[in-house]
Amino acid sequence: SWTTGNVIEEQVAAIRAQVGDKRAICGLSGGVDSAVAAALVQKAIGDQLTCVYVDHGLMRKGETQQVEKDFVAATGARLVVVDAEKRFLDALAGVSDPETKRKIIGREFIRVFEQAQLEILQEEGPEVAFLVQGTLYPDIVESGGGTGTANIKSHHNVGGLPDDIEFQLVEPLRQLFKDEVRMVGQELGLPEEIVQRQPFPGPGLGIRIVGEVTKERLDLLREADAIAREELTAAGLDREIWQCPVVLLADVRSVGVQGDGRTYGHPIVLRPVSSEDAMTADWSRLPYEVLAKISTRITNEVADVNRVVLDVTSKPPGTIEWE
Ligand code: XMP
Repeated sequence: SWTTGNVIEEQVAAIRAQVGDKRAICGLSGGVDSAVAAALVQKAIGDQLTCVYVDHGLMRKGETQQVEKDFVAATGARLVVVDAEKRFLDALAGVSDPETKRKIIGREFIRVFEQAQLEILQEEGPEVAFLVQGTLYPDIVESGGGTGTANIKSHHNVGGLPDDIEFQLVEPLRQLFKDEVRMVGQELGLPEEIVQRQPFPGPGLGIRIVGEVTKERLDLLREADAIAREELTAAGLDREIWQCPVVLLADVRSVGVQGDGRTYGHPIVLRPVSSEDAMTADWSRLPYEVLAKISTRITNEVADVNRVVLDVTSKPPGTIEWE
């Protein structure tokens, strides 16, 4: 019968059989899937695994620390953190177009990750041959099923590496659904904040600033987002809400009044949605008191924000994210 204990035992045995005494690399995103996949592989092969976390500077408050400290404490995994904030911000300077931002972030991410892989290879010799990925069962079904389909490459040649080094994929979550992955993660002792994390886009806060992405704007949005998350959690709404993007309209200003003066600040948009699979969504009917608390706190505590607005659009026609 299906138990998390059985799944872990089976996968640990399968990973050991697949990897043998070779080495593996796993990219951590801060999300549930890569964390659970890495924890499983760590349990199976210990220090033969090296995890890589690219800090692009676009994460929410506390998330990088969760990976650096809490994930490592829970798993004992060997972790390489690449601080690439400046590189990403430089590449994003002057860019406002959403698709261009996504392309830049994706491109830089691959470059930085491949560079880190190369360094690990050079340090540890060419027997690093396995790449761990947190592919889930629905990912495989959606892309057409089976191994080696268009989306899921079973062999993967990394740019900048010698041609004769091929990575083979280790995908210990291939048979699992999301809720099962969370159960396995919990059983492996991963922190609640990682295991229960709501979806968050790979490009991070970079696509939640409408306008150019700068360090100042990111810091401002991080504060507003942290307040919204704190209040939603305190109100016990985390399980009801699929996710709640918090968006900074950086190129919009409106007049306000605070203390004895007129202000001319930016609006923050709250986008709480309920959904089953993110394909369609409805705006969450949050209690007015919770919205009021979030609004009061953000306008009091975040400099340069003088207005909080609520997005009441379903998907379709609106997407969940603003960019
Ligand atoms: P939209 O905005 O298309 O988002 O309604 C649907 C879901 O996908 C997430 N999302 C992303 N996830 N990389 C990701 O890993 C991305 O580039 C990306 N863009 C959107 C979004 O947060 C929502 O859950």
